[in-house]
Amino acid sequence: MILVFGSLNMDLVMQMEHLPQPGETVICPGYVLKAGGKGNNQAVAAARAGAKVAMAGALGRDGFGDSLAARQQGEGIDISLIARGEAPTGCAPIAIDAAGENFIVVAGGANLTANQAAIPQEKLGSGTLVVLQMEVPHAENWALLARAKAAGARTLLNVAPAAAVPEAALGDVDFLAVNEIEAVQVARALGIMEAEPLSAAAALARRYNLACVVTLGARGAALVTAEGGWRVQPLKVEVVDTTGAGDAFVGNFAAALDAGLAPEEALRRASVAGSLACTAVGAQEALPRAADVDAKLAGVPAATPL
Ligand code: RIB
Repeated sequence: MILVFGSLNMDLVMQMEHLPQPGETVICPGYVLKAGGKGNNQAVAAARAGAKVAMAGALGRDGFGDSLAARQQGEGIDISLIARGEAPTGCAPIAIDAAGENFIVVAGGANLTANQAAIPQEKLGSGTLVVLQMEVPHAENWALLARAKAAGARTLLNVAPAAAVPEAALGDVDFLAVNEIEAVQVARALGIMEAEPLSAAAALARRYNLACVVTLGARGAALVTAEGGWRVQPLKVEVVDTTGAGDAFVGNFAAALDAGLAPEEALRRASVAGSLACTAVGAQEALPRAADVDAKLAGVPAATPL
């Protein structure tokens, strides 16, 4: 099973011709409320990919919280480890331009009260893949990684948004998922001065004995290990909104690993899912189901060795 520890946000999505520059006001016709938050998106992505998923995190006792909890439940996700408290549910205004590029502000709210100690030990056995991102207190992530590793669970840390990760925590990570910018930033914070993302990923993989998954946007993705790795192309789609594409990728990668697929095949399925997620407005709107990925898999050739 997959245990996602992370954020749940209500996204306020606004579409406009161009994104505002600092100090600029841009008028757009309206906005829509969409379920979001990196943890939430990844949990839903993994559930739609066919995995058994439990979510741990925190929501406010408010309308946004009720709505997000109900939607997760509707996806078949176990929400019993989501706390409800006084802090308001996390909220993310998202601006999207005509090319599908976005600008996101996350107001953490209840996510900043997420507490890994509420996760019972029995959820962290060898049959569990624990998936984490960086929109909850980082110290909680490091503590959960240590517990999970000690209990024999597998771990996947998506360092998004980018932040420094302590060496001890990296020692508890099996799969590190980053985009190109995050790869370089995580490495740099550890004194690895590689400017090229895949070189930075390779250095991290070697030093911390982990597999580093690097999403490369319109150029696909790579899985970098100490011994080498794999590269896949993206699926060609008409991009409407890239919000949540990384989450679709991570959730599908995790689900495929959890199902016992080889990492390079997980990479291929994740690449298809990440592309499909860009075809509608909203982080979860176009998250594919396993059958949707199956149907498009031929559009992405098998991963090739790096
Ligand atoms: O990765 C996309 C997500 O980032 C959005 O859903 C938003 O809530 C922010 O967490």
